[in-house]
Order: sequence, then C-alpha cells, then structure tokens
Amino acid sequence: MKQENLCILVVGGGGREHALVWKLKASPRVSKIYAAPGNPGINKIAECVPIPVNEVKRLAQFAFENYVDLVVVGPEAPLSLGLSDILMRFGIPVFGPGKTAASIETSKVWAKQFMTRHQIPTADYTIFRCADSAKRYVQSHKGPMVIKADGLAAGKGVFIANTRDEAEHAVDAVSSLGCGAGIIVEDCLFGDEVSFLVITDGRHVLPLISSKDHKRAKDGDKGENTGGMGAIAPAPGFNKSLEDRILEDIIMPAITGLSAEGRRYVGVLYAGLMLTSEGPMVLEFNARFGDPETQAVLPMMKSDLVDALEAAVKGTCDSITLDWRDGACACVVAASPGYPGKPSIGKEISIDEEQAEKDGILVFHAGTRLERGNLVTAGGRVLNVVGVGESRENAVNHAYKGLSHINFEGMWARRDIGRIST
Ligand code: AMP
Ligand code: GLY
Repeated sequence: MKQENLCILVVGGGGREHALVWKLKASPRVSKIYAAPGNPGINKIAECVPIPVNEVKRLAQFAFENYVDLVVVGPEAPLSLGLSDILMRFGIPVFGPGKTAASIETSKVWAKQFMTRHQIPTADYTIFRCADSAKRYVQSHKGPMVIKADGLAAGKGVFIANTRDEAEHAVDAVSSLGCGAGIIVEDCLFGDEVSFLVITDGRHVLPLISSKDHKRAKDGDKGENTGGMGAIAPAPGFNKSLEDRILEDIIMPAITGLSAEGRRYVGVLYAGLMLTSEGPMVLEFNARFGDPETQAVLPMMKSDLVDALEAAVKGTCDSITLDWRDGACACVVAASPGYPGKPSIGKEISIDEEQAEKDGILVFHAGTRLERGNLVTAGGRVLNVVGVGESRENAVNHAYKGLSHINFEGMWARRDIGRIST
C-alpha cells in the first residue's frame, strides 16, 4: 500500500525548486512540504525554513526533528557536501546521490575518466596537473579546443578557445579558479545540445522527456554563458530512436558503471549531450535536476512525481512508468539589468497573478525576496515564466504572453527561446 500524508523537504530556493514544490504539491499523497531556504514564490505553497543549502548538518537535523518522510535535494552544493550521506545515516529517505556518487558532476576529471572506463562517448581529452604543462600542450595544438576546470565552478569553468592564445588565456582563467584534480583540454564537439535526464534507483531508470536549455545571454545563442535564459521541452528534433540510443550507449553504462564501482546512485542523472554527426556524446553529467530545464519538463508530466521519487529511493523504478502530456512547454527567464555580469537588484516586481492564472501561465520564482512586504529582485535570473501548448510554437507564444504580465525596472529576456534549433 502506498504511504499517504507524506511530509517532504525540498532543499534549495531557485526556479527549479519552485517547480519541484509546485509539482509535489499536486500529489494527493503529500500533506506537508518544507523548502529550505525556499523563496517568496515557494512560500505561497509550502513552508520555507531559513536554512542555507550548504548547512547540511542543520538540514539533516531539521528533517529528523520534523519527521520528514523524503528529502529532495535540488542543487549540487549540498550533494557535494554529503547531505545525502548524513540523511542516510539518520535513516531518512533522500532523493539525491551521496558525495562520492555526485563526483560525476563535482569532478569533471573523475567524470571523464569514468566515461573512459565505461566506454561512454565523450570528447577526446587530456588531463594536466598544472597550468604549465597544459599551456605547452595547447601551444602545440590547433583550435578550437575546450578547456575545463575540474571542480564546481557555477558555469564559469568551461572555455571554448579558437586559437592557441585564447587557449593559453583559458588555461590561466581555469587555474585561477583552483585546479582541483587537474585541467582538462578536450576536443571541441559540434552539433545540437540536448539535456536528457533520468530518475534512477541506481539500477533502473525512468527517463524524463528531453529538454534544451539556452545558456547564452543573447538571441541567436550569442553572448556570454549564463545559468540559463530559458528552456524548451521536449528538445526540438528529439525522437524515440535517439532516446533509445542515449539510454543504451550513455545512460545505462553510466548507471551500471556507478553501481559496479560501488557508488550508490539514487536521484537524477542528467546528461548534457552534444548530438554530433557520430552520435550523441556527453559534454557533462550532473547529479541533479537541471535548472531551468525542470521548469519546462515538470509541467509536461502527467504522473505523480512522488511515485517516481519514492520508486527511486525504494529501488523499484522498474515497477512504474511515467506519463507525459502531448505538446510542449517553454520556460523564459526574466533577468535583471547587468546580468550575467553583476546584476542591479532590489527593484520592485509586479506580477499580474490573476491574468497569469487566467492565461494558464506558471511563474516560478528564482532571484526574488520580500523587502518590507514588497516583492523585489534579488539576483540575476529573477522569474521563470512558463507556458504549455499543443505545439512548440504555441508553448513559446504562451510563455512570451506570460512575460507581459510581469515587470520590474530593467527587466529583459531572450526573445528566441524555443524558436531556434541550435
Ligand atoms: P559543461 O559545463 O561541461 O557542460 O560545459 C558548458 C557548455 O560548454 C556546454 O553546454 C557546451 O555548450 C560547451 N561545451 C562543453 N564541452 C564542450 C565540447 N567538448 N565541445 C563543444 N562545446 C562544449
Ligand atoms: N541547465 C544547466 C544545468 O542545470 O546545469
């Protein structure tokens, strides 16, 4: 019999966690949701607890004292700090891998070597332990080359260098972040990018629909890299045979490889892929739901998310399947002036919630906070405006219509989310 009246703690406070809380709230099996630290949008539908995501002992203590039945970890930082390991020691079910399994995201060097050990297709690479040897190597190679830092770098640890000099500067930039276990120099891959995520119990997988985020700041995929300016699900051009190939060549070898190496993996395995002329290749793995992909994927899920998360923690992902609605979902990020540089924040936000609801638009909060009772901007990426439709075009138009229901000084967004194929 299914457990009812569940109490769930969602760790995190961004748009991804708002979407997770929104979806969990729709489950008839859930009676209480806490979010730590949450945000003003989440606060309307769950109880926010002011514990920062990196205070893993306090989070575990809170879950223990409040009889939490399931902890869902949003961001990578608490995974890298061992939150799941502590919760497992407390006997609290947790959706999110332990620290060593999360290395698949937290150490790019480890992840590349893991892919080699398990014949998972990825760009050819060389690892350097110091900047000098990396520089000597890039000076003797032709561009384009991709230079990557080892550890978590909040999206700032990857550089595509077209010339040897650019590559040398990239090595300097990467070493200034601290080299971790080394500097990676890899071949540059070409093709369309896709995010493919599965929920896993460590043996079986439940694939989510494909998605595509838009990382660059400017229309036409130009400008600086950002945390993501929007997403579309499913990814344009994605199909069942591609999904089968990704599962067979990439996802299952990774899941069985992790298990064979004794790294118990329960949570989301996120494969960032390049669809090259030679087939899909891994750009990176993440050990968590994507942001902003999740904001576009979850509104398409017809199944109860709690059933899927529970199957993962109980090891029964082979006993259920996930249902998805037809059509598409688009998420457009409303950003602060200055982002992706230093954003100008503290601007009052207006949201016409009545109109948004009438139009069926979802607004997930990311960088917002309450100041003397007023909702103000608190980060670079402020709100995620999400629209669902029978077609991609429909969903995109819907999301952009939703954007007209919100405003703050200097607000900007990309105008081509879901409208371009690369
Ligand atoms: P990563 O954090 O490793 O996913 O890299 C961030 C972004 O850099 C990716 O989404 C790609 O757009 C780009 N990238 C990373 N590795 C490569 C590669 N080998 N070839 C081309 N682009 C890459
Ligand atoms: N959207 C990219 C990520 O979640 O890492």
